[in-house]
Amino acid sequence: MTIALTPGTFDPITRGHLDIISRASTLMDEVIVAVAESTPKHTLFSIEERTELAKQATTHMDNVRVISFDGLLVDFARKMGVSVVVKGLRAITDFEYEFQMNAINQQLDYRLETTFIMSPPEYMYLSSSIVRELAALGGDVSKFVTPEVAEALKFKFSDM
Ligand code: PNS
Repeated sequence: MTIALTPGTFDPITRGHLDIISRASTLMDEVIVAVAESTPKHTLFSIEERTELAKQATTHMDNVRVISFDGLLVDFARKMGVSVVVKGLRAITDFEYEFQMNAINQQLDYRLETTFIMSPPEYMYLSSSIVRELAALGGDVSKFVTPEVAEALKFKFSDM
């Protein structure tokens, strides 16, 4: 049984993330969407909100679970008994960062293998930060996120 982790900040989860998770779920027996609690990024949504939105967005995927984690990804992978990480690759700009993360994770635990799925053209330039900016400026995010995430963004920015 091959279980993979798809880790991320998911602030918030986008259709680009969902495309990668869904494609990973067809390749693997099970996918665990690992929502990182501690991140160098200041997040708009709390860890509880990011996890809940990811859960709502993936309920239709039978072999996908969403779990939040704190600390190192390699430690979480070990704890869950998972040795494969699947990440999405968008434009070339992702490559350098992912190359570095993979190298660090390999140093920390050589048994953890990271593999990549290329984003399709329509999601190549989609990111959580673009979605947040669009929502903050009152733009329509419905093409890029689920209705629940769009609603959560609307609520968040109406609060500010
Ligand atoms: O969606 P992101 O921001 O690209 O996801 C990055 C994430 C959460 C996968 C990465 O920051 C991560 O693995 N964080 C957990 C801490 C960790 O293991 N860092 C690498 C060694 S310093």
